[in-house]
Amino acid sequence: MSMSVLVQAPPEVNPLQDPLRFERRVPPCAIVIFGASGDLSKRKLLPSLYRLFYERRISPNFGVIGSSRTNMSDEQFREKMKDSVSKFLEDAPFDEDVWTSFAQCLFYVPGDLNTPESYEDIRSKLDEVEQSHQTAGNVLFYLSTQPSHYAEAILELGTHQLNKGNGWRRVIIEKPFGHDLASARKLNEEIHKVFDESQIYRIDHYLGKETVQNILAFRFGNGIFEPLWNRRYVDNIQITAAESIGVEGRGGYYQEAGALRDMIQNHLSQVMATVMMEPPTVFDSTNVRDERAKLLRAVRVVRHEDVPKYAVAGQYGPSLVGGQQVAGFRQEPSVDPDAQTDTYAAVTFFIDNWRWAGTPVYIRTGKRMPKRVTDIAIQFKAPPLGLFQQETKTGLREVRPNLLVLRIQPEEGISLRFLSKSPGSGMRVRPVSMDFNYGSSFGERTPTAYETLLVDAMAGDPTLYTRQDMVEASWEIVEPILNTWAKTKFDFPNYPAGTWGPKASDEMLARQGHVWRIP
Ligand code: BG6
Repeated sequence: MSMSVLVQAPPEVNPLQDPLRFERRVPPCAIVIFGASGDLSKRKLLPSLYRLFYERRISPNFGVIGSSRTNMSDEQFREKMKDSVSKFLEDAPFDEDVWTSFAQCLFYVPGDLNTPESYEDIRSKLDEVEQSHQTAGNVLFYLSTQPSHYAEAILELGTHQLNKGNGWRRVIIEKPFGHDLASARKLNEEIHKVFDESQIYRIDHYLGKETVQNILAFRFGNGIFEPLWNRRYVDNIQITAAESIGVEGRGGYYQEAGALRDMIQNHLSQVMATVMMEPPTVFDSTNVRDERAKLLRAVRVVRHEDVPKYAVAGQYGPSLVGGQQVAGFRQEPSVDPDAQTDTYAAVTFFIDNWRWAGTPVYIRTGKRMPKRVTDIAIQFKAPPLGLFQQETKTGLREVRPNLLVLRIQPEEGISLRFLSKSPGSGMRVRPVSMDFNYGSSFGERTPTAYETLLVDAMAGDPTLYTRQDMVEASWEIVEPILNTWAKTKFDFPNYPAGTWGPKASDEMLARQGHVWRIP
């Protein structure tokens, strides 16, 4: 009889810092970026592609064709992108030699989205790149233009038969996917005239964040948390996405969007779905997305008359932040001085299913908050008997219940708060925490969300992209709030820049006996 012996790794080797980690195979392809001179392209797309190239995580047989109205040559586009990539590369060095090779893969086609010739120019460039860079006829279109141009651009791609070819054709569509439910449906219909569902990649970059993906690993790769993950043990869930920045020159767009549309309808609803969905039976794109969609469909749609009870809008006013005078939203460039835009939104959702019935989920997001932090706090119920309540001068104080915090950014990690006996005689308890920190555990640079999502789209894996049913379900849950707010005359501004939002938001939680946690 043979006996197996478990040999432990020597202690100096950290098994989490494994250089042979799994990477998916990415086929050759060309990427056409519409809106290539825009902010997203400069700040996220090109730096991510450069980084993927640098790390050899994409095929060397690739080419990028940027297109927008600005008149530029290939060379000028390369120079412009060099500036942006070196400036916006997050936590990564810029290498001149690698850039020189990468730049040979960049091309530019000036053009207007509604001019048919532009598409013919793109076709010729694609043919050229297919020959010179052996991209095998595979093409990924990336729509990062003004959202009002999405449908038009897609229809033109169809008219010019760019939706088919000798390789695969896929299209990534940036958020926002629609301005409301009706426009999201309409946009979907238009896209389906040209591309079938398997070719459509609706991007929500929050789903590509490592820490958001890790929620699934944490929940379904471990046996000990899931039994507690329900209404019997969880008292409430708080999802916070606070930004210290203002609207950063995007006043025009933001004024029309507002915080609820900009963050909750998409990113934070998807985060909520990831935290609260049922386990998929198989980890594949259909099953994972089915479960996310099911969760979103179970969110109770608030009645118009209840909106003031379950949703709070805020807008920042001018203030001194860290010794610096900061303008109010209405004083930002391109913003109407009477704008009724929400730069802060907080909502209470209830999930009407067996697992979560009655457990409130509080979501808040805002610009010009005291700091940049995105996290999810799962607040557990107190133990049934308060054995260790503390006596204070003002009476008995409840001990603080267990709290599990999933830190999405920054300081990515997970911490669990529990009570411990304070050293010394007597039974005094105080909260302590057990912490997992991505940086120190894995010790390697975390890929950005756009890197992950671009690789997935090239590899043909839509698991981290949203599906139309998910998009529609999340519009359905925010729409009554948006409609009610559109008819409300708010007394804005109602929170000074650099603070945690309006008082009404605290009152919303207080009505349920809860308080916002300070992240
Ligand atoms: C974008 C919003 O989708 O997400 C921005 O339009 C917001 O307003 C941004 O600032 C936040 O993303 P991140 O990755 O910085 O948290």
